[in-house]
Amino acid sequence: MSSGKRVLLIVGGGIAAYKALELVRLLRKRGIAVRAVLTKAGEEFVTPLSLSALTEDKVYTDLFSLTDEAEMGHIQLSRSADLIVVAPATADLLAKMRAGLAGDLASTLLLATDTPVLAAPAMNVRMWTHAATQENVKVLTERGISFIGPDEGDMACGEFGPGRMAEPAAIAEAVAAQLDPAAKPLAGKRAVVTSGPTYEPIDPVRYIANRSSGKQGHAIAAALAAAGAEVTLVTGPTREPDPAGVTVRHIETARQMLAGVEAALPADIAIFAAAVADWRVAEEATQKLKKDGSGDIPALSMTENPDILKTVSGLDGKRPALVIGFAAETENVVPHATEKRARKGCDWILANDVSPATGTFGGDANTIHLITGDGAEDWPTLTKHEVAAKLAARITEHFTA
Ligand code: C5P
Repeated sequence: MSSGKRVLLIVGGGIAAYKALELVRLLRKRGIAVRAVLTKAGEEFVTPLSLSALTEDKVYTDLFSLTDEAEMGHIQLSRSADLIVVAPATADLLAKMRAGLAGDLASTLLLATDTPVLAAPAMNVRMWTHAATQENVKVLTERGISFIGPDEGDMACGEFGPGRMAEPAAIAEAVAAQLDPAAKPLAGKRAVVTSGPTYEPIDPVRYIANRSSGKQGHAIAAALAAAGAEVTLVTGPTREPDPAGVTVRHIETARQMLAGVEAALPADIAIFAAAVADWRVAEEATQKLKKDGSGDIPALSMTENPDILKTVSGLDGKRPALVIGFAAETENVVPHATEKRARKGCDWILANDVSPATGTFGGDANTIHLITGDGAEDWPTLTKHEVAAKLAARITEHFTA
């Protein structure tokens, strides 16, 4: 339990500031005391009064308030907490943190503290992807600042992409995990996760691939790491950033993915979320295939790729205690997945409906049916991050039951 712990919440100026109110509520529900600092820009989005009502504490806004200094100096304020959470962490706040500016209360606190800091960035997609912000995040990560999010999705400004603040529930989960080592129930467990598509070469410039985004596999690797597991993620090419605290092996082909997984064994948990190509071109051309003007079309002869899930499920000795596969189905989801569980020899299958109407492939939401030896469990429609968190919780239950 994190109860009895204290968080200093710095609320920056962004449309996501309203979610900070929900975050306060969720943290307090876990017994965590929250003291809030609101930046000048933050005050444009939420009022000190609403934060004060939810924290049941004074809200700090001014650097040069004599009464504040009489009650509690900013140095003391910065050290009064077990964790500082910056949510939303705006581009401006991140830049100030990186540069060590101290022109207002929030930035001064962040400079004066030796307390761990967790930041939940929120900003317009272009601001997030700008080299300046990316460089700031990289430097801050190297300095030990933890980050959660941002998520990808529709933004208040009408654009789409990464920049949306992580959901309050996910931030609360990350806060609890940081505050309480016992909230790392998978500490001591090793996990290997596959993610993304594979690229199967035709010749030096062409390849066969699929539309897997890697979102689900990456979220699972991050959730297992947050729960304390030592995670190796073996991933095909994706646009997803490497999850923090995870060892990432970047590969292209199915054979490389299998080798990457085997190198990560022994492990207690293996989760195969990658969309591995079933077939590859039997003989990869060493030179680029050319049109020779004859009108002849090259015939690609295919051969089967190794089935990584089946191979690892069938290992003697080195088989992980819990092997989990995915079944992407477009009809009769549960019966097909149940049959797949038996055929692959794995312990659990997470089955999802990927018929085009569901938008699962490449989208953010996923409706899962968990097939275990005890039957099927229907999960509600969740974001891929929520699926990952729920799966990490189910795995914890499995190992502690
Ligand atoms: O057979 P199918 O591709 O539908 O099975 C899906 C499951 O098997 C997923 O967990 C996927 O990661 C895994 N798989 C694999 N290696 C393959 C094909 C699928 O690990 N060559």
